[in-house]
Amino acid sequence: MSNSTKFVFVTCYLIVFSLQGITGRHPDFYLSIEKLVNKYGYPMENHEVTTEDGYILTMFRIPHGRTGTEINQKLVILVHGLYGQAEHFITNAMHNGSLAFLLADNGYDVWLMNSRGTQHGRKHIRLDPNESKFWNFSWHEIAMYDLPAKIDYMLQKTKKSKLHYIGHSQGGTIFYVLSAMKPEYQKKIQLASLLSPAGYGGHIQFPLFQYFGRHFDEIMRMVEKYNIYEFPNLGNSPSELLLNTCIDSVFSSFCLLVMRNFNGIVTPNVDLEMLPLILRFIPTAAMKQSLHYLQGVISGRFRQWDYGNSQKNIEAYGTPEPPEYNVESISVPVSIYYGLSDLQVTEKDLKLMCQSLQNCVSLHPMKDSKWSHYDYLLSNVAGEQFNVPLLRSMQKYDDD
Ligand SMILES: *[C@@H]1O[C@H](CO)[C@@H](O)[C@H](O)[C@H]1NC(C)=O
Ligand SMILES: *[C@@H]1O[C@H](CO)[C@@H](O)[C@H](O)[C@H]1NC(C)=O
Ligand SMILES: *[C@@H]1O[C@H](CO)[C@@H](O)[C@H](O)[C@H]1NC(C)=O
Repeated sequence: MSNSTKFVFVTCYLIVFSLQGITGRHPDFYLSIEKLVNKYGYPMENHEVTTEDGYILTMFRIPHGRTGTEINQKLVILVHGLYGQAEHFITNAMHNGSLAFLLADNGYDVWLMNSRGTQHGRKHIRLDPNESKFWNFSWHEIAMYDLPAKIDYMLQKTKKSKLHYIGHSQGGTIFYVLSAMKPEYQKKIQLASLLSPAGYGGHIQFPLFQYFGRHFDEIMRMVEKYNIYEFPNLGNSPSELLLNTCIDSVFSSFCLLVMRNFNGIVTPNVDLEMLPLILRFIPTAAMKQSLHYLQGVISGRFRQWDYGNSQKNIEAYGTPEPPEYNVESISVPVSIYYGLSDLQVTEKDLKLMCQSLQNCVSLHPMKDSKWSHYDYLLSNVAGEQFNVPLLRSMQKYDDD
């Protein structure tokens, strides 16, 4: 093909692509999350929890379903992934696919976590998000401080002794870290249902992350040189920029193309109408969260933050290498779901984890071979193909 033919070809492609791109916004887009939850007939409460190290985090709670008025008796916490937050368990309501709503309608008192750094986790008793110290955390700290503070708060508030745990991606990571580092929390969890949980990362297949892994030292130098502690560093949230670029501009086709090719954001089962709503709730994160994952891609091990040289590791841990998380000590029943098209969290790495855990009750590939990393939250068919089977499996563990 000559260059001019190529040019015409690409231009036509982009025009056609734009036409089938994002044209309108669903009415849900214009609602605050509280109004959105109420619109579908559910109650919502906000609860502020302060962590031991001073972060002030808001939890959402949906205490009962559409028909009830009494608080449900079974407790569940829903834990989002990296660059996610609580709303992502709700936004699929437009396709009858909100996991939070299904659980609330089936006897669960549903609590949705927001970790430090998300749009609902940018307050601290001393620090301001414009200070680098605010962002000096990885998922290790989220697991050590945010998660136990929230679990304690829920159990105390409801006078219960146990809860169900549901975690997506990083939500799985922090379950492993908390259970291994603070084993007293294990007996508080009835069943951990983990959706593409990130743990071991040695068999990642996503080319972008493989590339970053190979260039880790350069990335680290840049991070230090330019002081990149929050990423992307765009104030309250990158959502405005994403929305302006991806929905309202000439770049929208390009943006969509990126999302189609970014591991599993836009898969065949994702309705484009939902994208604006999803983008609105994408928070920023600490750079250290991503870097910590990259360290695991390079080492193939699931372990604490590597300070980069043995001297510093010895100061922090007493050993030249960072200690591995003792996942062999986890006896909580764990049920793992994954997508065969997920290049980030792969079958091989999950098998390793499942073999290490004491009570890995199921390692369940989703039937749809196109299922990827975010389909649990975004797919049109998540309701019937994922939410309902998940509910059934949880019900087997309900009895205290
Ligand atoms: C929504 O999903 C639930 C659970 O799958 C199902 O029982 C209900 O009938 C669905 N509602 C509609 C309107 O499709
Ligand atoms: C951070 O923001 C606060 C206002 O929220 C401001 O008073 C302070 O000077 C800012 N600090 C820096 C380092 O920009
Ligand atoms: C970040 O916290 C670690 C301890 O968790 C500490 O060693 C390090 O000096 C801190 N870095 C900054 C920039 O505050």
